[in-house]
Amino acid sequence: MIIKAGKYRIPPIVLSLGLLALFLGTAALIGLPNAIGLHAPRLELLAQQPIKVQIHVAAALLAFSLGLVLFAAPKGTLPHRTLGWIWVTFMATVAGSSLFMTGLNGDHYSWIHLLSGYTLITLPLGVVAARRHRVVHHQRTMTAMFLGGMVIAGAFTFIPGRLMWRVLMG
Ligand code: HEM
Repeated sequence: MIIKAGKYRIPPIVLSLGLLALFLGTAALIGLPNAIGLHAPRLELLAQQPIKVQIHVAAALLAFSLGLVLFAAPKGTLPHRTLGWIWVTFMATVAGSSLFMTGLNGDHYSWIHLLSGYTLITLPLGVVAARRHRVVHHQRTMTAMFLGGMVIAGAFTFIPGRLMWRVLMG
Protein backbone atom coordinates (compact mmCIF):
# COMPACT_ATOMS: atom_id res chain seq x y z
CA MET A 1 0.00 0.00 0.00
CA ILE A 2 1.30 3.48 -0.91
CA ILE A 3 -0.08 6.67 0.68
CA LYS A 4 -0.44 9.60 -1.74
CA ALA A 5 0.29 13.11 -0.46
CA GLY A 6 -0.28 15.42 -3.44
CA LYS A 7 2.13 14.35 -6.16
CA TYR A 8 4.30 12.42 -3.63
CA ARG A 9 3.88 8.70 -2.95
CA ILE A 10 4.93 7.78 0.59
CA PRO A 11 5.43 4.14 1.61
CA PRO A 12 3.69 3.55 4.98
CA ILE A 13 6.93 2.38 6.62
CA VAL A 14 8.59 5.72 5.78
CA LEU A 15 5.52 7.63 7.02
CA SER A 16 5.39 5.58 10.25
CA LEU A 17 9.10 6.04 10.99
CA GLY A 18 8.84 9.76 10.16
CA LEU A 19 5.90 10.22 12.55
CA LEU A 20 7.71 8.21 15.25
CA ALA A 21 10.84 10.37 14.85
CA LEU A 22 8.67 13.52 15.01
CA PHE A 23 6.93 12.27 18.18
CA LEU A 24 10.21 11.28 19.88
CA GLY A 25 11.90 14.55 18.87
CA THR A 26 8.99 16.64 20.19
CA ALA A 27 8.79 14.59 23.41
CA ALA A 28 12.54 15.08 24.00
CA LEU A 29 12.29 18.82 23.29
CA ILE A 30 9.47 19.42 25.80
CA GLY A 31 11.26 17.30 28.45
CA LEU A 32 8.65 14.52 28.52
CA PRO A 33 11.18 11.76 29.43
CA ASN A 34 12.21 13.62 32.63
CA ALA A 35 8.61 14.50 33.48
CA ILE A 36 7.52 10.84 33.50
CA GLY A 37 10.73 9.62 35.16
CA LEU A 38 12.02 7.71 32.11
CA HIS A 39 15.48 6.26 32.66
CA ALA A 40 17.84 3.78 30.98
CA PRO A 41 16.27 0.28 31.10
CA ARG A 42 17.05 -1.52 34.38
CA LEU A 43 17.65 -4.84 32.66
CA GLU A 44 18.83 -6.44 35.91
CA LEU A 45 15.16 -6.39 37.03
CA LEU A 46 14.23 -8.52 34.01
CA ALA A 47 17.23 -10.81 34.60
CA GLN A 48 15.98 -11.50 38.14
CA GLN A 49 12.54 -12.69 36.91
CA PRO A 50 11.53 -16.34 36.52
CA ILE A 51 12.14 -17.79 33.06
CA LYS A 52 8.40 -17.74 32.23
CA VAL A 53 8.31 -13.93 32.66
CA GLN A 54 11.50 -13.49 30.62
CA ILE A 55 10.07 -15.65 27.80
CA HIS A 56 6.77 -13.72 27.97
CA VAL A 57 8.43 -10.29 27.76
CA ALA A 58 10.90 -11.33 25.03
CA ALA A 59 8.13 -12.88 22.89
CA ALA A 60 5.87 -9.85 23.49
CA LEU A 61 8.52 -7.33 22.41
CA LEU A 62 9.41 -9.44 19.35
CA ALA A 63 5.72 -9.85 18.41
CA PHE A 64 5.14 -6.12 18.80
CA SER A 65 8.12 -5.15 16.60
CA LEU A 66 7.44 -7.82 13.97
CA GLY A 67 3.74 -6.86 13.97
CA LEU A 68 4.65 -3.30 12.96
CA VAL A 69 6.79 -4.65 10.11
CA LEU A 70 3.95 -6.91 8.93
CA PHE A 71 1.52 -3.98 8.92
CA ALA A 72 3.84 -1.83 6.85
CA ALA A 73 5.18 -4.41 4.38
CA PRO A 74 3.39 -5.78 1.29
CA LYS A 75 0.83 -8.50 2.00
CA GLY A 76 0.41 -11.95 0.47
CA THR A 77 4.09 -12.27 -0.46
CA LEU A 78 6.43 -15.08 0.63
CA PRO A 79 8.14 -12.80 3.21
CA HIS A 80 4.69 -11.84 4.58
CA ARG A 81 3.72 -15.50 4.96
CA THR A 82 7.07 -16.48 6.49
CA LEU A 83 7.19 -13.55 8.92
CA GLY A 84 3.47 -14.09 9.60
CA TRP A 85 4.14 -17.63 10.84
CA ILE A 86 6.96 -16.34 13.04
CA TRP A 87 4.59 -13.66 14.43
CA VAL A 88 1.96 -16.33 15.15
CA THR A 89 4.60 -18.35 17.05
CA PHE A 90 5.57 -15.29 19.11
CA MET A 91 1.91 -14.48 19.89
CA ALA A 92 1.19 -18.07 20.91
CA THR A 93 4.26 -17.92 23.18
CA VAL A 94 3.08 -14.61 24.73
CA ALA A 95 -0.44 -15.89 25.41
CA GLY A 96 0.69 -19.43 26.35
CA SER A 97 3.34 -18.25 28.84
CA SER A 98 0.85 -15.84 30.44
CA LEU A 99 -1.28 -18.84 31.51
CA PHE A 100 1.52 -19.71 33.94
CA MET A 101 1.71 -16.17 35.36
CA THR A 102 -0.37 -14.60 38.11
CA GLY A 103 0.21 -11.72 40.48
CA LEU A 104 -2.20 -8.92 39.69
CA ASN A 105 -5.03 -10.90 41.30
CA GLY A 106 -3.04 -12.81 43.91
CA ASP A 107 -2.67 -16.46 42.92
CA HIS A 108 -5.74 -16.30 40.69
CA TYR A 109 -6.16 -15.36 37.06
CA SER A 110 -6.87 -11.65 36.45
CA TRP A 111 -8.95 -9.98 33.73
CA ILE A 112 -5.85 -9.81 31.47
CA HIS A 113 -6.09 -13.61 31.14
CA LEU A 114 -9.25 -12.98 29.09
CA LEU A 115 -6.90 -11.54 26.45
CA SER A 116 -4.80 -14.69 26.65
CA GLY A 117 -7.87 -16.86 25.97
CA TYR A 118 -9.02 -14.51 23.22
CA THR A 119 -5.58 -14.67 21.57
CA LEU A 120 -5.28 -18.47 21.78
CA ILE A 121 -8.73 -18.88 20.15
CA THR A 122 -8.43 -16.11 17.57
CA LEU A 123 -4.87 -16.85 16.43
CA PRO A 124 -5.71 -20.16 14.67
CA LEU A 125 -8.88 -18.59 13.24
CA GLY A 126 -6.78 -15.81 11.66
CA VAL A 127 -4.37 -18.37 10.18
CA VAL A 128 -7.21 -20.51 8.78
CA ALA A 129 -8.76 -17.39 7.21
CA ALA A 130 -5.45 -16.59 5.50
CA ARG A 131 -5.05 -20.15 4.20
CA ARG A 132 -8.58 -20.03 2.77
CA HIS A 133 -7.82 -16.64 1.16
CA ARG A 134 -10.50 -14.91 3.22
CA VAL A 135 -8.38 -11.79 3.18
CA VAL A 136 -10.76 -9.34 4.90
CA HIS A 137 -11.47 -11.76 7.74
CA HIS A 138 -7.75 -12.49 8.12
CA GLN A 139 -6.89 -8.78 8.12
CA ARG A 140 -9.58 -7.91 10.69
CA THR A 141 -8.69 -10.81 13.00
CA MET A 142 -4.96 -10.10 13.03
CA THR A 143 -5.41 -6.31 13.35
CA ALA A 144 -7.85 -6.73 16.26
CA MET A 145 -5.43 -9.10 17.97
CA PHE A 146 -2.52 -6.73 17.50
CA LEU A 147 -4.39 -3.61 18.64
CA GLY A 148 -6.65 -5.19 21.26
CA GLY A 149 -4.11 -7.66 22.56
CA MET A 150 -0.62 -6.30 22.07
CA VAL A 151 -1.20 -2.55 22.31
CA ILE A 152 -3.70 -2.65 25.20
CA ALA A 153 -2.02 -5.46 27.18
CA GLY A 154 1.37 -3.87 26.43
CA ALA A 155 0.22 -0.42 27.59
CA PHE A 156 -1.19 -1.90 30.83
CA THR A 157 2.22 -3.37 31.68
CA PHE A 158 3.41 0.23 32.22
CA ILE A 159 0.97 0.82 35.09
CA PRO A 160 2.98 2.15 38.07
CA GLY A 161 4.25 -0.74 40.20
CA ARG A 162 4.26 -3.36 37.42
CA LEU A 163 7.51 -4.81 36.18
CA MET A 164 7.85 -2.91 32.86
CA TRP A 165 7.11 0.37 34.64
CA ARG A 166 9.92 -0.37 37.11
CA VAL A 167 12.26 -1.35 34.27
CA LEU A 168 11.77 1.93 32.38
CA MET A 169 10.26 4.51 34.76
CA GLY A 170 10.09 3.40 38.37
C1 HEM B 1 4.31 -5.54 24.65
C2 HEM B 1 3.50 -6.42 25.16
C3 HEM B 1 3.60 -7.04 26.55
C4 HEM B 1 4.51 -6.86 27.55
C5 HEM B 1 5.72 -5.95 27.58
C6 HEM B 1 4.11 -7.71 28.64
C7 HEM B 1 4.77 -7.83 29.85
C8 HEM B 1 4.30 -8.53 30.95
C9 HEM B 1 4.97 -8.64 32.22
C10 HEM B 1 6.32 -8.02 32.53
C11 HEM B 1 4.19 -9.38 33.03
C12 HEM B 1 4.50 -9.88 34.49
C13 HEM B 1 4.84 -8.85 35.47
C14 HEM B 1 3.76 -7.86 35.73
O1 HEM B 1 2.57 -8.25 35.86
O2 HEM B 1 4.12 -6.68 35.79
C15 HEM B 1 3.01 -9.73 32.29
C16 HEM B 1 1.96 -10.45 32.80
C17 HEM B 1 0.90 -10.89 32.04
N1 HEM B 1 0.72 -10.69 30.70
FE1 HEM B 1 1.87 -9.61 29.50
N2 HEM B 1 2.97 -8.39 28.28
C18 HEM B 1 2.64 -8.01 27.02
C19 HEM B 1 1.62 -8.50 26.24
C20 HEM B 1 0.69 -9.40 26.67
C21 HEM B 1 -0.34 -9.98 25.86
C22 HEM B 1 -0.53 -9.70 24.36
C23 HEM B 1 -1.07 -10.81 26.66
C24 HEM B 1 -2.26 -11.67 26.32
C25 HEM B 1 -2.46 -12.18 25.15
C26 HEM B 1 -0.50 -10.74 27.98
C27 HEM B 1 -0.97 -11.41 29.06
C28 HEM B 1 -0.44 -11.32 30.34
C29 HEM B 1 -1.05 -11.95 31.51
C30 HEM B 1 -2.34 -12.73 31.55
C31 HEM B 1 -0.21 -11.66 32.57
C32 HEM B 1 -0.41 -12.09 34.03
C33 HEM B 1 -1.23 -10.98 34.70
C34 HEM B 1 -1.52 -11.31 36.16
O3 HEM B 1 -0.61 -11.19 36.97
O4 HEM B 1 -2.66 -11.67 36.45
N3 HEM B 1 0.58 -9.89 27.96
N4 HEM B 1 3.11 -9.22 31.03
